[in-house]
Amino acid sequence: MKIIDNLKDGYEILKENNISSYKIDCEILMSQTLNISREEVLLNLEKEMKEEEKEKYFNYINRRKKDVPIAYITKNKNFWREKFIINESTLIPRPDSEHLVEQALKLIKKDKSKRILDIGVGSGCLSISILKERPYCECDAIDLSKNALKLAKINANLHQLSDRIKFYKRDVDNFYNGKYDLVISNPPYIKKHRIKYLGAINYEPKIALDGGLDGLEVIRKVISKSKYLLKINGKLILEIGYDQKYKVMSFLREKSFFINRIIKDYGNNTRCIVSTNKN
Ligand SMILES: C[S@@+](CC[C@H](N)C(=O)[O-])C[C@H]1O[C@@H](n2cnc3c(N)ncnc32)[C@H](O)[C@@H]1O
Repeated sequence: MKIIDNLKDGYEILKENNISSYKIDCEILMSQTLNISREEVLLNLEKEMKEEEKEKYFNYINRRKKDVPIAYITKNKNFWREKFIINESTLIPRPDSEHLVEQALKLIKKDKSKRILDIGVGSGCLSISILKERPYCECDAIDLSKNALKLAKINANLHQLSDRIKFYKRDVDNFYNGKYDLVISNPPYIKKHRIKYLGAINYEPKIALDGGLDGLEVIRKVISKSKYLLKINGKLILEIGYDQKYKVMSFLREKSFFINRIIKDYGNNTRCIVSTNKN
């Protein structure tokens, strides 16, 4: 059978299973199957597929029809300007988190050397994206999850940054390794009881999502701890949930942070707060 025929069969299967992005998903899975770009798939629609290629493609389709996220099937995800290896032990990097990278790059000039801490490093997408563009900076990265750290190390190796990023399996509560110029964090911030309603996101590790009863448990820890981990005038760049702005701002002020910027995401929700450790 030709590529086009298998694509069409894939569309039907995913459509029947209410996968709204069925068209693009099939094309991505076909490109993964044949190890060519999506554009090349579309330029070779009349090409015949081998039996083993067909089998591989429909294995992918059968996982996708159960709502397994594409990134967990293809094992990679583009974020900022890089490609990251992804697996089920980490959150899939979100385009909205690119705002944290953008803000960090605005704060750090290209020729400056700064000490950065990434709290809840996950796949490593934030710190690796920043270090790639700021060659004199160094980063410590912590996470509670051993498997997330394993993957972040693989990504650091892949991007040739192993000498500038150090990993620690640690709770933010128990970490001290000197003072930093910048702390970045995309902590878990979903209310515990909401997690089960999140659909496909349920394939992602709870530890990356669960912000406790009010969704703010880890955010509060990150802010309190950053107070001690940041130099005076050091910056904290924090990702938050769409409805957490006022509570987080008030907690930051309570801890004597000055709020510099509030950034909205692509859906016009407040997603990122930049603040300064004043004293
Ligand atoms: C929302 S994910 C963010 C991952 C990645 N930084 C990103 O932006 O895609 C949060 C990460 O924080 C880690 N984490 C959760 N609680 C933590 C804690 N108390 N201390 C350190 N890391 C924690 C989780 O294991 C998870 O990898």
